[in-house]
Amino acid sequence: MYNFNFQVTTKVLFGEGQIKHLGKEISKYTDKVLLVYGGGSIKKNGIYDSAVEQLKNYNIEIFELANVDPNPRIESVREGVSICKENSIGGVLAIGGGSSIDCSKVISAGVKYDGDPWDLIIDRSLVKESIPVFTVLTLAATGSEMNGNAVISNMNTNEKLGTYGRCLIPKLSILDPTYTFSVPARHTAAGTADIISHTFENYFTNVEGGYLQARMAEAILKTCFHYGPIAYKEANNYDARANLMWASSWAINGLISAGSANNWSVHPMEHELSAFYDVTHGEGLAVLTPHWMRYVLNEDTVSKFVDYGINVWGIDSSMDKFDIANLAIDKTQEFFTKELNIPANLRELKISNKDFDTMAQKAVTVKGGSIQGFVELHAEDVKKIYEMSL
Ligand code: NZQ
Ligand code: ZN
Repeated sequence: MYNFNFQVTTKVLFGEGQIKHLGKEISKYTDKVLLVYGGGSIKKNGIYDSAVEQLKNYNIEIFELANVDPNPRIESVREGVSICKENSIGGVLAIGGGSSIDCSKVISAGVKYDGDPWDLIIDRSLVKESIPVFTVLTLAATGSEMNGNAVISNMNTNEKLGTYGRCLIPKLSILDPTYTFSVPARHTAAGTADIISHTFENYFTNVEGGYLQARMAEAILKTCFHYGPIAYKEANNYDARANLMWASSWAINGLISAGSANNWSVHPMEHELSAFYDVTHGEGLAVLTPHWMRYVLNEDTVSKFVDYGINVWGIDSSMDKFDIANLAIDKTQEFFTKELNIPANLRELKISNKDFDTMAQKAVTVKGGSIQGFVELHAEDVKKIYEMSL
C-alpha cells in the first residue's frame, strides 16, 4: 500500500428532512448564493421550494442558474461565473445530480480565476481557490457530493474532460434519500452502474496490500447489486435509496482508492462516448465494463477477478480460476442488462463505429498517450474494446 493523504472536508447531513438545516449552514459562509440546477426536476418534486424557503428564513439572497444539461456544458459554467462576479456572490449551491454539482464546482473556481473557466478544465493546476460549494443531492451516482472532481463538456470540440481541486470538495452536502424517490428508473439504473464502475476502477488495481480497501469496495459492490434492482422497481423504497446514496459518496471520495493510486480505465473510454454522442454516463459505462473486463483478463490479472467472483458473487471457489473469472464477468453483464435493463451494446445507445479511431486516440491522448490503468491500454486496445461493445 502506498502512502496517502485522505481529507474529506464535507459536512454530510444524511436522512429525511435534513433540508431544514440548509439556511443555517450556508449562512455560516455567505448571505448570497448562486442556486444551480438542471432541467426542472427539482421544481416538480418540491425540492426547489423547500430549499428556497430555508434560504429565505436566513435572509440569504438567491441568484439562479437553471437548465444545466446532463453532461454539463462549459457555456453554463461561464454564465454562472458572470452572475457570481457581477453580484459578488459568496457561495454556489447545487441542487441536483452530478451535472449541477460539477457545473457549480467549476463556477466556484472560475469566480477566483481571471481567464476563461475552460482553462481550469484543461489544466487542473490552475484550480487553486474557489468560493464554497454546497450541495443538495437528488441522484445517487457520481459521488460529486463528497469529492473534488468535476467533469465538463465542450460540445463544439467534442471534449468531455475532468478537473480536480481540493478546494472544490463541497463544504456541505444534504443527502436526503427521499429526494431520489422521483428519479426515473432509467437514471436509477445508470446511477447504480456509475457507482459500480467507480468501485471497479479502484478495486481492479495492481498495487498490492490494500486488503481493507478491497473488502470495503466489495461491500459497496454488494450494496449496489442488492439494492440497485430494488430501487429500480420500488422507487420509494427508503432503505434502497439510502444505501445507494451512501454508496455513491464512498465509492469515489478517496476511501477505497487510498494507497493504490490507481489510474482509471473505463471512465476515459466512456467520456469519449459522451463527448461524441452525449450518452448517459452510467449507460456508457455499463456497456463498456464487461467487454473491458474480458479484454484485460489474462494469467496476470485473473486472481483479482477470482476475488471478485468469490467475494462479491459467491461463486464456488473450487472451480477453475478462469471459469470463476468468466462467470463473474457474465454475472456483471447480466446484472446491467437484465436486472437494470441498461442497453446491451453501443448500437442500442445509437453509437456507430464511424468515430472509433478518433475516439480511441482521444481517450489515450487525454491520459498522456496510453491509459495506464489495471492493464495498460493503447489506442488500438481501446478501439478493440469499442468494437467488442458495438
Ligand atoms: O436536469 P433535471 O431536470 O434535474 O433532471 C435530471 C437529469 O435529466 C434527472 N434527475 C436528477 N435528480 C432527479 C432527476 N429526475 C427526477 N428526480 C430527481 N430527484 O436525472 C438526469 C441526470 O442528471 P445528472 O445530474 O446529469 O446525472 P448524474 O448524477 O449521473 O451526473 C452525470 C454527470 O456527472 C459526471 C458525468 O460524466 C456526467 O457529466 N461525473 C462526475 C463525477 C464526479 N464529479 O466525481 C464522476 C463521474 O464518473 C462522472 O464522470
Ligand atoms: Zn462515473
